[in-house]
Amino acid sequence: MLTTPDSLLKYLTDVTDLRLPDGHFIDGQYCAARSGRSMQSEDPGRGEAFADFARGDADDIADAVSSSRKAFALWRRTPPAERGRILARTAELIRRNSERLAIVECLDSGKPIGEARGDVSGAARTFEYYAGACDKLEGSTFPLPSNYVGFSQFEPVGVTAHIIPWNFPISTAARGMAPALAAGCTVVAKPAEQSPLTALLLAELLVEAGLPAGVCNVVTGTGAEAGAPLVASTGIDHVTFTGSVTTGGHVMRACADNVTRSVMELGGKSPVVVLSDCDFDSTIANVAGAIFEHAGQICSAGSRLVIEAGIHDRFVEALGKKARTISLGHGLRSPDMGPVSSAAQRDKILGFLDRARVRGAEFISGGQVSANTESGKGYFIEPTIVANRPEDDELVQEEIFGPVLTVQKADDPVHALHLANSTRFGLVAGVFTADFAKAHQLARDIDAGQIYINEYFAGGIEVPFGGNRQSGFGREKGIEGLKSYCKVKSIAARIG
Ligand code: NAI
Ligand code: MG
Repeated sequence: MLTTPDSLLKYLTDVTDLRLPDGHFIDGQYCAARSGRSMQSEDPGRGEAFADFARGDADDIADAVSSSRKAFALWRRTPPAERGRILARTAELIRRNSERLAIVECLDSGKPIGEARGDVSGAARTFEYYAGACDKLEGSTFPLPSNYVGFSQFEPVGVTAHIIPWNFPISTAARGMAPALAAGCTVVAKPAEQSPLTALLLAELLVEAGLPAGVCNVVTGTGAEAGAPLVASTGIDHVTFTGSVTTGGHVMRACADNVTRSVMELGGKSPVVVLSDCDFDSTIANVAGAIFEHAGQICSAGSRLVIEAGIHDRFVEALGKKARTISLGHGLRSPDMGPVSSAAQRDKILGFLDRARVRGAEFISGGQVSANTESGKGYFIEPTIVANRPEDDELVQEEIFGPVLTVQKADDPVHALHLANSTRFGLVAGVFTADFAKAHQLARDIDAGQIYINEYFAGGIEVPFGGNRQSGFGREKGIEGLKSYCKVKSIAARIG
């Protein structure tokens, strides 16, 4: 039974209090699209539009890029400690506005309010972390002969473009903006058209915290109309892209034309390797959380359970039981799981499930659309577990980006390792075992950017994040993430 205070439910009918932004944020203020056009964002929990926003195109991008270019001259020379103070105040302002931000995020992306609150507090933590890093970016000295001095320093790469997806709007915006600003770069962000609102509010809070106008601009609109001209602009120096492999490929081709640097955070089909000696109950909870958090719409979701034969039957049965108790509902009602982001995403997921049914796949749980029991609207898919699929099955190889877990049975840890590495992706992997040596052998041998041992999603902003193979390249978060926005300059001097 879901219970929600009326103070939250009123936002289902009236969003006036939330003061939703409806323009781009350029040069320190909101403005309409040059074309005068706007579009609407849906609340996936109701399947209804609830907010208008500016429909940007190449003209708005040109304005934002030129504003960020101008501001770069000033921001790169702002003392690092002062940059740090502004980022620290931003963290504080995010915390002060956290409930409003979480409600907006919940409505715009569909995620349960508890998850949205977690994302907002994570965004504050991201600004706090990079606030402290601004004045600690130290270069190196080089051991040259005694009549030379050699050293390196980090310089900001320049104007940075950020293409943000719909699954983690405020988190992804923060994890790109904060290190870019810390390094002395300026920002032009293009949030996803499904969930554009919190990136705008973040840019507004940055200015309230003292960020000079133009240092962080946000242009809203579609990928084709606003994203494509941004990444193709000759006025930018770097692109941080988070999204699908296909669109990432288009963005890389646009970057190639201008030799623009890039970081690519693409998809995944991440394995959760469970060995027979794992702690049963906590592993069940972790495996369920790895795939059903945000209805599986997480690049690092644990979407493949690779499980040792000895524990397989008992584990899958208990996991199925757990999946069937997961409550679904509108995010404001604090369900265990919310909707998927759009009708298109729902249909894409259902396509995978329908094809699997035709191939005779066994469903341990779910497999169907679930109508939101209150309104009959919204894009809900049941928590789904599909049994024992062969290695070449589409459900094993393709990113579904929904609440769908594929089970793969492994004979032993060696076979589990083989299965873990047998997709084109390499983003993250989970390992669950009581055996320290086996855990670290798997961590050593699995090809992924990060490995979680005995807690899925372990770690925080301190831990670098990014993929291998078709999951992309470059790292965000941590000091590595800060260095993504820096270029090294080496200086060697003859001193006589
Ligand atoms: P997408 O990769 O097309 O969209 C991500 C962002 O890129 C959005 O802001 C979009 O407006 C922008 N974009 C689209 N085309 C662009 C272009 N030509 N130039 C510059 N920017 C562009 O992903 P989409 O279509 O929303 O979702 C499709 C699938 O992608 C999902 O089902 C999922 O499998 C995957 N995906 C993965 C994400 C991740 O975190 N790895 C995030 C979002 C989607
Ligand atoms: Mg929306």
